[in-house]
Amino acid sequence: MASATEFETHEYEYALDRDCTTLSRHVLQQLQSFSPQAQDISAIMNRLALAGKLIARRLSRAGLMENALGFTGEVNVQGESVKKMDVYANEVFISVFKQSGLVCRLASEEMEKPYYIPENCPIGRYTLLYDPIDGSSNVDINLNVGSIFSIRQQEGDDLDREARDLLQNGRKQIAAGYILYGPSTILVYSLGQGVHSFILDPSLGEFILVQENIKVPTSGPVYSVNEGNFWQWEDSIRDYVRYVHRHEGYTARYSGALVGDIHRILLQGGVFIYPGTVKKPEGKLRLLYETAPLGFLIEQAGGKASTGTQNLLDCVPTKLHERTPLIIGSAENVELVESFIQDRAREAAAQTP
Ligand code: AHG
Ligand code: MN
Ligand code: MN
Repeated sequence: MASATEFETHEYEYALDRDCTTLSRHVLQQLQSFSPQAQDISAIMNRLALAGKLIARRLSRAGLMENALGFTGEVNVQGESVKKMDVYANEVFISVFKQSGLVCRLASEEMEKPYYIPENCPIGRYTLLYDPIDGSSNVDINLNVGSIFSIRQQEGDDLDREARDLLQNGRKQIAAGYILYGPSTILVYSLGQGVHSFILDPSLGEFILVQENIKVPTSGPVYSVNEGNFWQWEDSIRDYVRYVHRHEGYTARYSGALVGDIHRILLQGGVFIYPGTVKKPEGKLRLLYETAPLGFLIEQAGGKASTGTQNLLDCVPTKLHERTPLIIGSAENVELVESFIQDRAREAAAQTP
């Protein structure tokens, strides 16, 4: 049996090893290479971590600063009112990637067209897609928000302003992840080889590995949906919500920030649903920088992501800011929601002459 001192030494070494497993080291380990491409991806992840630190810093002090909270008075390309924090966070991502030589183009929820960094393009063969602040309605009340990111290989003509190469399915993502700004700042990412989480240690200024190869439970009690929209939904989603109301073992959680709700489901299981409505069948969430990156992560964690009629990662957008319905989380929960959609589709097909 190990003596108390041996045990303490072991614990101490373990803690030290863990503190040294920073995000950039982890990325290189994941890629099992020091090739130029691996170095690029590692550097991109490092820059994303820097963006996360800058945003977390501002969020932590926003209430004490002039002009950090509230609306700008502008409306973005999505027709949504822009918050000052949306603008700040959007600019953070641009600033950290300028002159980095890493990313040729950035596309964000807050910009109508992709933002080109021509000086990076000869070598920076990647595009970053991102939602700078997800859940901005939570910003002014000090609740959790997030950032979502996705990296794709740049294809075709570097300066093709139409950015047609982005109109491809979610399996084309090289990496995807999110940063959750909560009591701790947490970064979760995948390079297509499992899902891993890191916590920002403010005393070190580094994201330190907490959990590798996270697996979403095959089922869970949580259903996460904005039930205020019940009256606008298709019958199938109403059927599902009525079902969970009438069966034991379900509990509702909805934070107003997709990143927070997905993080809960990643760790504890359940399902998040943002369906279309009768008037807006495409729903609210955007494919390229919200639903596809989260779909990539959840699939990597053994869960499922669906539009209701299709695997989310097979969805090919026709435009940059395309929206999709989203049903995502534990495989069994997602399949249950899909079964209600299929039932109604069968019923409708049987009624058509
Ligand atoms: P964003 O703040 O980037 O516009 O995203 C908000 C999204 C998502 O985070 C959240 O789950 C959902 O919108 C909340 O919308 P509702 O208020 O319609 O429920
Ligand atoms: Mn969002
Ligand atoms: Mn946003």
